[in-house]
Amino acid sequence: MDLHILAHRLRVTSISKSGLQNYTHPLIKLIFLRNRTRCKFFSLTETPENYTVVLDEEGFKELHPSEHLQVECSTWLPLNVVSNGNASSSSQAVGVTKIAKSVIAPLAEQHVSVFMLSTYQTDFILVREKDLSVVIHTLAEEFSIFREEDGESVPVHSQDACNAHHSTVHPVMIPQNQFCVMSLDPDTLPGIATTLIDVLFYSNRFPADLLFTSSSGELWRMVRIGGQPLGFDECGIVAQISQPLADSDISAYYISTFSFDHALVRNHYTHILSLYLFSTQAI
Ligand code: ARG
Repeated sequence: MDLHILAHRLRVTSISKSGLQNYTHPLIKLIFLRNRTRCKFFSLTETPENYTVVLDEEGFKELHPSEHLQVECSTWLPLNVVSNGNASSSSQAVGVTKIAKSVIAPLAEQHVSVFMLSTYQTDFILVREKDLSVVIHTLAEEFSIFREEDGESVPVHSQDACNAHHSTVHPVMIPQNQFCVMSLDPDTLPGIATTLIDVLFYSNRFPADLLFTSSSGELWRMVRIGGQPLGFDECGIVAQISQPLADSDISAYYISTFSFDHALVRNHYTHILSLYLFSTQAI
């Protein structure tokens, strides 16, 4: 398996619910008018608390400082696992489950804090730039590591470093909402732009007809991790959740946001996960 360190240098920010209207201009540009910006990595997640925006330095320049914008002070680098076909994996699972044992657990053991962004296609594991040498050292056993530079993949070799380990168990919450995970061909974006603008900026409901355009129609439930905002320094939160899911080969997407973490599991597995989590909480 190959691990790619992508060339983007990312910032993790949050826009308050009431501050969104101050940022519609840059957000419309970043989301819909891709050729008007040099931003190459952009992610927006809405939660009841706030909007989490993760974007590269070019995109970050578009967000003017204000009382409504919170910015995590580090630079984060996205890692991406690419299976090169010949690695015979017994697992059919998708999302964070696939990388729980090879990436998430070893990084947590080395006390590296991660920020996870699962997407339909792939999972980005964000690590702080300052932790990169520990990350490379930790993952070099399992992976061939490449660093993307000017569109080229350059092999990276491990140096050295080490750290300690601790873990806190956070409370979880499982709301009733059901989620549909889908992907979109960028060329079809103009066709649904007005709907998305409506959803993002003007209404607080997702239109049901849009939801069911997914071919599989499969629904997912969310587990929100954290009672108090989780911060960015703690490690092992993703590991705690993804480890048992990997043991049972249960697919899961995992999305970190500015305040909390979120795991998405198939509808029918929610009770298994809540039982598991309940039993760990009870210890
Ligand atoms: N740093 C955590 C970990 O290594 C995950 C991110 C939690 N923090 C957050 N703001 N979502 O497991």
